[in-house]
Amino acid sequence: MVSLSYLFCVFVSLLDDDPVSCHVQSKPEGEHKTLFVFGDSLFDPGNNKYLNSSVEGGSISWPYGETFFNHSTGRLSDGRIVPDFVAQFAELPILPPYLQPIAHHFTDGTNFASAGGGVLVQTHPGTINLPAQLSYFKAVVKSLKQKLGDVEAKKVLMRAVYLFSIGGNDYFSFYSENPNASQSYQRQYVGMVIGNLTGVLKEIYDLGGRKIAFQNAGPLGCLPAMKARSPQLGSGCAEEPSALARLHNRALANVLKKLESKLPGFKYSIFDYYNALGDRVNNPSKYGFKNGKAACCGSGAYRGMNCGGGRNGTEPYDLCSNPSEYVWFDGGHTTETANRQLAELIWSGAPNVTGPYNVQQLFGHA
Ligand SMILES: *[C@@H]1O[C@H](CO)[C@@H](O)[C@H](O)[C@H]1NC(C)=O
Ligand SMILES: *[C@@H]1O[C@H](CO)[C@@H](O)[C@H](O)[C@H]1NC(C)=O
Ligand SMILES: *[C@@H]1O[C@H](CO)[C@@H](O)[C@H](O)[C@H]1NC(C)=O
Ligand SMILES: *[C@@H]1O[C@H](CO)[C@@H](O)[C@H](O)[C@H]1NC(C)=O
Ligand SMILES: *[C@@H]1O[C@H](CO)[C@@H](O)[C@H](O)[C@H]1NC(C)=O
Ligand SMILES: *[C@@H]1O[C@H](CO)[C@@H](O)[C@H](O)[C@H]1NC(C)=O
Repeated sequence: MVSLSYLFCVFVSLLDDDPVSCHVQSKPEGEHKTLFVFGDSLFDPGNNKYLNSSVEGGSISWPYGETFFNHSTGRLSDGRIVPDFVAQFAELPILPPYLQPIAHHFTDGTNFASAGGGVLVQTHPGTINLPAQLSYFKAVVKSLKQKLGDVEAKKVLMRAVYLFSIGGNDYFSFYSENPNASQSYQRQYVGMVIGNLTGVLKEIYDLGGRKIAFQNAGPLGCLPAMKARSPQLGSGCAEEPSALARLHNRALANVLKKLESKLPGFKYSIFDYYNALGDRVNNPSKYGFKNGKAACCGSGAYRGMNCGGGRNGTEPYDLCSNPSEYVWFDGGHTTETANRQLAELIWSGAPNVTGPYNVQQLFGHA
């Protein structure tokens, strides 16, 4: 595709001697893909580095980044994260953090995700919560309109895919404050998260967004970090955080289905991260891993804490020699090898894993 449009571009410019028409003709409608990423640490390519407050993810240091980037970028993995691979599959460059002070190409999209961020404004203050990510997106919409004009900008926004990983931090924070919440209180909280999330999706729709893709909430009680903090669990998982994730995932599926029936042109994808990751944790060898329970990098039980030395960089920790043998790189984040597998499922997973559309189909759809 790339070389064909390049040839077409050369041909047009020979005839016209007009570099502007070359630029326009080299991107026939529907071909150029745009990816906007919203979310938490699972999708953060380093936005927190540019925050003034010292928050989660802002001080990420070596060995984060060791496998691919050769330096720490702010990503919580040894290498690339899921949005990096999704961009690669869409033939886009790796999307830089929105807050990185560079000349951005917003026609490719951008990444607003922030480690620690949640749907609710009260979740981890100091991180970029979803409402703040939405306000950054509105600034991008404005910039696209200034650059392309309203009509072209709207086309870009309608063709774009909006990829989300959000909610986990809201439930970690709820669980740490209410370890013994009643079922009705849990449901009420999930309703508040989903209510606010729905509001954000509707605003994106009103701005032109049509193609929404979610990675759902993971098995939150099975993170090495969770196990490291709860020695009484032994080799098991904490039930409550995973139960909250399951409640959230059911509500998320319902609300997206409802939005599809109410909003003309709205299409969505849900990747079942909960089960895809859970299966890798429980059956690592099925997916080419040697260890699904412990992290590659960290200290304490399951090396669940302090990868890179903890917040102040001074805590001792162990580092495995081959991260690709592990599902987990640190106590809450997967290795580049696992991230590639997860991204492949988001991109082209079968309907029982990613549905009703996968992201490749969302991009392909008019
Ligand atoms: C950080 O502070 C500087 C100087 O006050 C300001 O220009 C910048 O917008 C702030 N960054 C963020 C992400 O708030
Ligand atoms: C990281 O280092 C390896 C080995 O030196 C090199 O092949 C690779 O291109 C580097 N990666 C980046 C992103 O610079
Ligand atoms: C709350 O939950 C914790 C951990 O599950 C348990 O140890 C504790 O006894 C519970 N407290 C109450 C008041 O139920
Ligand atoms: C959104 O969250 C706030 C708490 O931050 C809550 O008061 C409000 O009711 C929620 N909105 C919806 C629509 O659920
Ligand atoms: C580093 O942080 C840990 C907590 O993570 C704390 O116990 C320790 O005292 C800190 N060390 C320094 C030198 O600040
Ligand atoms: C999904 O369906 C495929 C066959 O299309 C099957 O091989 C795979 O095991 C299924 N995955 C799950 C998680 O059910």
